[in-house]
Amino acid sequence: MMTLKEAIELRHSVRSFTDEPLSEEVVAALQEKIAEVNEEALLDIQLVQDEPKAFTGFKARFGRFSGARNYLVLVGPECKELDEVCGYFGEKLVLLAQQLGLNSCWVGGTYRMVAHQFRVDMGCKLAAIIALGYGETQGEPHRSKVPEQVAAEYATAPSWFKRGVETALLAPTALNQQKFAFQLAGQREDGTPLVKATTKRGAFAKMGLGIAKLHFEIGAGDTAFDWA
Ligand SMILES: Cc1cc2nc3c(=O)[nH]c(=O)nc-3n(C[C@H](O)[C@H](O)[C@H](O)COP(=O)(O)O)c2cc1C
Repeated sequence: MMTLKEAIELRHSVRSFTDEPLSEEVVAALQEKIAEVNEEALLDIQLVQDEPKAFTGFKARFGRFSGARNYLVLVGPECKELDEVCGYFGEKLVLLAQQLGLNSCWVGGTYRMVAHQFRVDMGCKLAAIIALGYGETQGEPHRSKVPEQVAAEYATAPSWFKRGVETALLAPTALNQQKFAFQLAGQREDGTPLVKATTKRGAFAKMGLGIAKLHFEIGAGDTAFDWA
């Protein structure tokens, strides 16, 4: 199986899918990871299969989707952290999907809620969905900011921090806004470096921050650091 770094390099949003159903092995691997993520993050992420209606109708017309019939619903307790947590853990599932040979697209707005396909318990909220399937194409790299635009001290930063920033710039963000920023924020008494991640306001900016933080961690690799 490809590494997470390879999955990050290869992942691009794909909105057109073939009608090939998800294979049994792929579904089993996804379900196992979904259960793990739900337990760790107290989320209620669910996989919906063979349900094309979410991508039809008025709003979906703006999303340019075709053939999309499988998706993850990112559901969790309504709280101010929900978007960031869904971003971080949802992207773990996106990268696993890429490793499993699937393509994906985060969908914040251009979908329709379809009754009886998944549950949203009392006190919970559906934060976003993620379309999954076998893409007609592998997608295209997005236009990106340069590292200095999201990390002012990039040029003089240690190499693990640089790799973190570069990997974050490969992350999906709503409308490709890349509103996140990273800065070195000193160190703990034991010498562990601290990194501060922030985001400007924008559509799904907190979700994008969670996604970018996961990418940063993967890019930084084995170097131990903590979020400030
Ligand atoms: C939280 C979030 C919400 C998104 N919502 C939508 C959407 O509603 N419709 C859509 O077509 N794409 C959506 N996208 C996909 C972005 O447009 C895409 O990630 C961005 O343009 C970067 O391209 P890439 O994913 O190929 O790297 C969303 C992405 C994220 C992270």
